Amino acid sequence: MLDVAVIGLGWWGKIITGILQESTKLRICRAVDADSRALRWAAERGLATSLELGDALADPAVKGVVLCTPHTLHTEQIARAAAAGKHVFCEKPLALSRLDAEASVRHCNDAGVVLAVGHERRFEPPMLEVKRLAQSGELGALLQIEASFSQDKFLSLPPANWRLSEREAPAGPMTATGIHQLDLAVWLLGPADRVFVSVRRLGSNLANGDTLGALVTFKSGSNLLLSAILATPFAGRFAVYGNEGWVEVRDKAHPEAPEGWVLTRCRRGGTPESRDYPAASAVRANLEAFADAAEGRAPYPVPQSEMIANIAALEAIFRSAASGWVEPV
Ligand SMILES: NC(=O)c1ccc[n+]([C@@H]2O[C@H](COP(=O)([O-])OP(=O)(O)OC[C@H]3O[C@@H](n4cnc5c(N)ncnc54)[C@H](O)[C@@H]3O)[C@@H](O)[C@H]2O)c1
Repeated sequence: MLDVAVIGLGWWGKIITGILQESTKLRICRAVDADSRALRWAAERGLATSLELGDALADPAVKGVVLCTPHTLHTEQIARAAAAGKHVFCEKPLALSRLDAEASVRHCNDAGVVLAVGHERRFEPPMLEVKRLAQSGELGALLQIEASFSQDKFLSLPPANWRLSEREAPAGPMTATGIHQLDLAVWLLGPADRVFVSVRRLGSNLANGDTLGALVTFKSGSNLLLSAILATPFAGRFAVYGNEGWVEVRDKAHPEAPEGWVLTRCRRGGTPESRDYPAASAVRANLEAFADAAEGRAPYPVPQSEMIANIAALEAIFRSAASGWVEPV
């Protein structure tokens, strides 16, 4: 059982708290938030609370931290947690620049602690099947990925909310949703080579932009066509095209409350066949993989090279959104 402190008890920290309270591999021994209202919520659930990350880092009972804080805080909080000898699960994005991602990996490795990232989509059962089909060669050569992840949850946020700021969330929807699909593409295709991105505000008051379209070309030559919108109802789709067949996963609901998926597969010369996948908590699977790694039962399945490759591509997307040009990764 890995004893952890959850840092940041907003939307996602509360969801993670609920999941951890049902886990048989992790136990919350402290909840930290800079806002005392969030701490009241945690205290009502029987959790010890603190206003300061430092309290959790000084607590010898805490073996790991789960960071659910605003994006610009991740790099410094990882460095402090690693220096205190705590294993780190950091919500996405790991960082906003390649240099910061590399520094976080280095700090954790130097301290001999595990670094895990909140890219739960890799743990969704149909995505594991997509990875198997890609890796086994059953799809043939991987040609192109089409991915979309859209939602309208941020339309009700006050304009000053950090998630709507250029500083915390460059390129509009990218750090909210697009980053997950980018991570899946890196998992399947390897490092990216160059990107071309458009971000506009077309259907809302979200000053930072609500509609992102991106073309990411990988070193393999394959492309990711990425769509991420913050002003349309939830939609999630990930399709991989190969020269022997294609596979597509459609999400039935947002990952905060999974309702299952439909995987459709078509072989060359065949007709599309669909299969339903029941709901499963990929967020829990990811957190438990973190605990398995921290307690030495199994390596964390996301290679650090892919964590860095994802953020390197993210940083190039920020540059292209700002410049309007093709940007190298
Ligand atoms: N994996 C996913 O699917 C997923 C989904 C949603 C959000 N997230 C990520 O979770 C993180 C948090 O996002 P959110 O939507 O929950 O934001 P939020 O604003 O709802 O919550 C952030 C919380 O952090 C607290 N906080 C701010 N500064 C702090 C500090 N210095 N120390 C301790 N607490 C502090 C805030 O008071 C707030 O309660 C982000 O990285 C976000 O991208 C991941």
